[in-house]
Amino acid sequence: MFFHMIELTLQNRMNEVKKLYESLSLIGSLSLAISLPWIIYKALHLQRSLNNLFGKVVVITGASSGLGEALAHEFYMKGCQVVLCARRRQELDRVRTDLMHSHSTVQTHPPIIIPLDLADLDNLVENLKKIITVTGKVDILINNGGVSHRGNVLSTNIDVDMKIMMVNYFGTVALTKAVLPDMVKRNEGHIVFISSVQGLIALPERSAYSASKHAVQAFGDSLRAEVADNNISVSVISPGYIQTNLSLNALTGSGDSYGQMDDSTKSGYTPEYVAKKIVKAVAQKKKEMIISSMLPKIAIFLRKYLPSLYFFAMARRAKKSSLK
Ligand SMILES: NC(=O)c1ccc[n+]([C@@H]2O[C@H](COP(=O)([O-])OP(=O)(O)OC[C@H]3O[C@@H](n4cnc5c(N)ncnc54)[C@H](OP(=O)(O)O)[C@@H]3O)[C@@H](O)[C@H]2O)c1
Ligand SMILES: *[C@@H]1O[C@H](CO)[C@@H](O)[C@H](O)[C@H]1NC(C)=O
Ligand SMILES: *[C@@H]1O[C@H](CO)[C@@H](O)[C@H](O)[C@H]1NC(C)=O
Repeated sequence: MFFHMIELTLQNRMNEVKKLYESLSLIGSLSLAISLPWIIYKALHLQRSLNNLFGKVVVITGASSGLGEALAHEFYMKGCQVVLCARRRQELDRVRTDLMHSHSTVQTHPPIIIPLDLADLDNLVENLKKIITVTGKVDILINNGGVSHRGNVLSTNIDVDMKIMMVNYFGTVALTKAVLPDMVKRNEGHIVFISSVQGLIALPERSAYSASKHAVQAFGDSLRAEVADNNISVSVISPGYIQTNLSLNALTGSGDSYGQMDDSTKSGYTPEYVAKKIVKAVAQKKKEMIISSMLPKIAIFLRKYLPSLYFFAMARRAKKSSLK
């Protein structure tokens, strides 16, 4: 009698488990049935957006190295007419030759080179006119040129703060203002800002850089709202560390080049990986995107929702710093 009861209960349990399993697998196949067309739709949509890039005029600042150079390759491969901007003409020439040699089968216009200095605000309008004279229009402006900072607030000359703000923020703003009237007139266009994870959270010893990237972030958000009615898209991209020369070219407190490759930069994403992600985001007109590992994302979350923990972690980081 007793064992019989146990057997019955066991059997009931087994039936319950079986039912649960059946309903779960029903949910599973249902959600697969629903999500599979969605996944296929998304993939097709992405492909169509990428195809739409063909023939677009894409102006890239900071195209002489690192991420800008990788972006030039990605857009060129999609059939865009790329306009390469930076200070060093020789490096721009190198990138141009590289583009034409490494993707010789791509049907597009040869890249155009426009040497310019983002810190020379007065010349940016002239340079943009030059571009439009050659290409007729600018479809996409990628504000990528920039310079970083290594030094604490106490030992950083105000000139260095101004220089970094000038290149990363005012140069970017001036070039954007130069291109905007034509985009408004044509009722289409896309402006992309390469900010940084440090446009969302500040690290010690990067005050000028973080501040300039925060400023870019805010400018982009304001602009996006203003030009939404003009069919102009604005994307703000925030990458984490990328394997480029950014830390080598960073300015120290006295304005010299830092000249060292940081471990964090060395172990970052490849520029090609980040460039591929950015091209997809641009094609799909994403309003913003963070391209980073988990840790920066956690830090961004903490800064917003648990600030005291973020402040503590940053103070510890500053204390351990080797720059002192
Ligand atoms: N590397 C990272 O870890 C990382 C992470 C997040 C965001 N970013 C951002 O990515 C962008 C590209 O940097 P990168 O990492 O590729 O570093 P990079 O290799 O040092 O490239 C910087 C580019 O900006 C140009 N540039 C610098 N000052 C300029 C000026 N006054 N006028 C015109 N162009 C100027 C440089 O060209 P010339 O020297 O020829 O002028 C170069 O092409 C920057 O905005 C940077 O803040 C980088
Ligand atoms: C960094 O600079 C060196 C020397 O100028 C150059 O050879 C190298 O290609 C640069 N690296 C990147 C990723 O741009
Ligand atoms: C808006 O811009 C896109 C390109 O970014 C273009 O294909 C489309 O025709 C434009 N729409 C209007 C209404 O002008």
